[in-house]
Amino acid sequence: MDDRVLYSASETPGRAGVVVVCAGGHGREVASYLEDLAAAGAGPALAGAVDDTIAPDTPWMSARVIGPIEHLERLAADRGLAYITALGDNEDRRAVVARIAALPRAPRPHSLVHLASYVGRDARLGEGTLIAPGAVITVGVALGRHCIVNVRATISHDCLVGDFVNVNPGATLCGGVTVGAGAFVGAGSTVRERVRIGAGAVIGAGAVVVSDVPPDVTVVGVPARVTRRRPPSAWGSSAP
Ligand SMILES: CC(C)(COP(=O)(O)OP(=O)(O)OC[C@H]1O[C@@H](n2cnc3c(N)ncnc32)[C@H](O)[C@@H]1OP(=O)(O)O)[C@@H](O)C(=O)NCCC(=O)NCCS
Repeated sequence: MDDRVLYSASETPGRAGVVVVCAGGHGREVASYLEDLAAAGAGPALAGAVDDTIAPDTPWMSARVIGPIEHLERLAADRGLAYITALGDNEDRRAVVARIAALPRAPRPHSLVHLASYVGRDARLGEGTLIAPGAVITVGVALGRHCIVNVRATISHDCLVGDFVNVNPGATLCGGVTVGAGAFVGAGSTVRERVRIGAGAVIGAGAVVVSDVPPDVTVVGVPARVTRRRPPSAWGSSAP
């Protein structure tokens, strides 16, 4: 959470353009958000995608697939491009960010806040974090690096959200909720006020979480109950 920055379109990396890392379904969503912002004069242009599995020069959204992920190094060095990841799986996203950070001339991550979202003035967002259309983030909220706050998700006052967390479409975090790094908050779930979600935990779609969730477990249902326990993950048990 040390790299948390207040988002500002003029300060964020990627003024020269942003490359989307991975061109799948979520990648097309992220590209579309970048296109929206650029069309409104409120953000940098979509520069294309890098993807290990799609042939270079394949047309993609309003741009094209540029090459494999390692290509980012040259794009950053020669053209000053930044990147944003588009992988919903938190572990996959962390792995790709680590791979990019290991490049000798690593590009900077771009944070994207869609114009049709609401983000409170005092919110703090980590680098590489995506706020999708319809998302609402109210006051006193801090979000870590490379998080996804997906469409129509709500994060209420004073929530503290760790790095690489995915808050899926329509999920609601009530006031004062704490979410550990790498947690996956399923679509349409609700987390009651002041509950603490452990690092690496998975909240099933539609769950209503009324009590603290340990790290590295899956909970489902109303009220949510643990259905699966995994060995301790690299996310650790630390709070954000
Ligand atoms: C909870 C989840 C992660 C699956 O976890 P899993 O440990 O692999 O669970 P399984 O699919 O093996 O199912 C185990 C049991 O839980 C039940 N279950 C799975 N997901 C459930 C859910 N969201 N709510 C209630 N019960 C659920 C299954 O029916 C099954 O029940 P059974 O043992 O009586 O047959 C997944 O179902 C889920 O909800 N993912 C979130 C999806 C999402 O939000 N996607 C957003 C994409 S944008």
